[in-house]
Amino acid sequence: MTSEFKLAPSILSADFSNLRSALDQCDEGGAHYIHVDVMDNQFVPNLTIGPPVVKSLRTFTQKFLDVHLMVIEPEKLVEPFARAGADGITFHIEATNNPQDIINLIKNTGKDVGISLKPETPISEIEPYLNQINLVLIMSVEPGFGGQGYIPESTKRITDLKQLLVKQCIQDKVKIEVDGGIKLQNAQEVLDAGADILVVGSEIFKADDPVQVMKIFYTLGNT
Ligand code: DX5
Ligand code: ZN
Repeated sequence: MTSEFKLAPSILSADFSNLRSALDQCDEGGAHYIHVDVMDNQFVPNLTIGPPVVKSLRTFTQKFLDVHLMVIEPEKLVEPFARAGADGITFHIEATNNPQDIINLIKNTGKDVGISLKPETPISEIEPYLNQINLVLIMSVEPGFGGQGYIPESTKRITDLKQLLVKQCIQDKVKIEVDGGIKLQNAQEVLDAGADILVVGSEIFKADDPVQVMKIFYTLGNT
């Protein structure tokens, strides 16, 4: 049922005084992506990471730096994050009236393009852009904080999106990433629904042994 997936540990739940150690753990655990949650205290009620931090991360990892912009006016941050070393930049469809302009802007930097949706936003809102992007990030919690519970209705949204991609024959080109409340206990359900990339924050970085948790994740879906 499930194919090979990729793990994107979210450093939001890591120790910010020791992000280097979080990167080392991601290496040891075999993670493919490093998920970077950027919050502006306007689009969401929290304030986190800016381009200088991504620039520092870039010097210590070769992994795909997956930047998730939870900000208003994302167009202002695309180039700064691209220059800092992001590999992919994902913006929220709810944060702009001009998604096409932001897609073009990200493409011009040569980075992968992602669009994210909050839990209440209909999938149909991103349908016109699907054939131009690399990734859809389905939020399975309200964006803003790590450590929240998975919203059960998210599973059907993943299935619906997968069907849409299959219908357009772009399921290999456009990846489905799911973000929020993913634990070892519910990850298989998310994978079975069609996720290609799992963002996992607290389940990994609040664990006693983050490396071991990543390794257990990678035993899922491959049996
Ligand atoms: C929430 C962030 C998530 C968060 C996930 O707004 O986008 O990436 O870090 O953390 P967990 O896995 O703890 O829900
Ligand atoms: Zn995120």
